[in-house]
Amino acid sequence: MNPNGPESAGAKAFYVTTPIYYVNDAPHLGHAYTTVAADVLARWHRQRGERVRFLTGTDEHGQKIMRTAEANGVTPQEWCDRLVSEAWEPLWEHLDISNDDFIRTTQKRHTDRVREFVQDLYDKGEIYKGGYEGPYCVGCEEYKLPGELLDGEGEYAGRKLCPVHKRPVETLSEENYFFRLSEYGDRLLAHYEAEPDFIQPESARNEVVNFVRQGLQDLSISRSTFDWGIPIPWDSKHVIYVWVDALLNYATAVGYNENPERFEATFPADVHLVGKDILRFHAVIWPAMLMAQGLPLPRKVAANGWLMVGGEKMSKSNLTGIKPQDLTSHFGVDAYRWYFLRAISFGQDGSFSWEDLSARYTSELANDYGNLASRVAAMVGKYFGGVLPEATADGDAERAVRDGLAKAVTEADRRIGDELDFQGGILAVFEFIKQVNGYLTEQEPWKVAKDESTEGRARLATILYTAAESLRAIAVLLNPVMPETSRKLWESLGAEASRGALADQKVQEAGEWGGLRAGAKVTKGAVLFPRPEEPAAV
Ligand code: ME8
Ligand code: MG
Repeated sequence: MNPNGPESAGAKAFYVTTPIYYVNDAPHLGHAYTTVAADVLARWHRQRGERVRFLTGTDEHGQKIMRTAEANGVTPQEWCDRLVSEAWEPLWEHLDISNDDFIRTTQKRHTDRVREFVQDLYDKGEIYKGGYEGPYCVGCEEYKLPGELLDGEGEYAGRKLCPVHKRPVETLSEENYFFRLSEYGDRLLAHYEAEPDFIQPESARNEVVNFVRQGLQDLSISRSTFDWGIPIPWDSKHVIYVWVDALLNYATAVGYNENPERFEATFPADVHLVGKDILRFHAVIWPAMLMAQGLPLPRKVAANGWLMVGGEKMSKSNLTGIKPQDLTSHFGVDAYRWYFLRAISFGQDGSFSWEDLSARYTSELANDYGNLASRVAAMVGKYFGGVLPEATADGDAERAVRDGLAKAVTEADRRIGDELDFQGGILAVFEFIKQVNGYLTEQEPWKVAKDESTEGRARLATILYTAAESLRAIAVLLNPVMPETSRKLWESLGAEASRGALADQKVQEAGEWGGLRAGAKVTKGAVLFPRPEEPAAV
């Protein structure tokens, strides 16, 4: 499954994960946002030449799923199977998501290992039996603290609401098993201190640090009022709390307690990408669980902000009618992948609007990028019969283009590959696209073409080679973001013959000038960003 060779091939894999999503409903723009970001990061690191493990999957236990299945008159397992095969997997395929594995928490490879993990903690004295009563939100699958609840209004007047779901909480009173989370506060704080990049962005880090400083309560890790979950090994009247079950996917999917070689070569994650709604689970509970087992902690937990629609967080209960396919059918998959990372600074909230997407599609993708590609291919066709000429007359203008490219490469590699600043990285490449457009506008190859002297031909050849070679680098740098577009451009530039497969091009080497060989066959190819169809009524 892994394209970059066997686990034993030395260095640890770059391991990146998305949340495993609840299958109570079909995916929406918010889930796709995190998953596309993870995909771009995974593809970026593969194109650095690293071995990558990219994991996504689904979270299938718990009360929320059980109730949804009941309401639909099927068993929870039937419900999960249907949603995974009809909604989740097809969307990831449609969006060109390059995950190496897809874990489902109902799979035996997961449930067996989760039982072992929890049994182990019990044997170590990390788990004890106790009682708890408190407000519980089924939407979050989480006990809430009384202080964070909202006062209900209107139909919910007099009731307390979950601050995330804005729905009434339920009072749960249970005899449960508890994990000694309260004992990990100091070690967690010490870790946040020692590893300032552990939680990203800064605002998320501060929130977690403040939360932990207030003192942690022990965590109820079992439920006995329903049975859709993994039974507690030593007490089958209880099922394991869905969050403990879910977080362990990051370990069970890579060979925990099953394949030590693979586990060593992959675990822990380099980046857990999550939404900020589930930050505490990943930055507090998950590391404490790992500490309790003596396992290494993830390098980074990166929280993305909310995707908002009409001023509200987009959620399953508030879809405002948009699903990813409504956008891809109009603008195409690549523009969709590009848009959210381009328009929103990662970690911040961002609004989606059709108008903004449409405007950026036209100005940045179709006009700046698409036109550059088609202009260059057309001119090589018209003036050189589709055979890429040699550059023999380089001057200051060409040097400026090469410098601009070198800057774009360094900038994009650092921002996307290291800092998860997808917007900054994409902008660096699009700055370079603008620069190449400006270069053509200044050099006016269409005028130079009228000069049939040897010098004139050499100038024209140099300008067109410079533009084509720039496009070669742009195709490499944007391949993780817009793979289908880069594939088309690679083909149109005839780059395969001189450079080999697009997937083998290292991003950090994209600026090494002269990659395209003179003589390459340049063809006009399909328009990269066609004028969109009129929107279907949504
Ligand atoms: O929480 N904006 O699953 P979930 C940005 N099963 N991102 C959004 C979003 C929005 N409006 N809406 C959803 C769960 N997301 C658990 C996870 S992991 C061990 C278990 C994304 O189906 C974002 O990544 O509720 C968020 O954290 C995730 O979907 C929640 O998905
Ligand atoms: Mg949720």
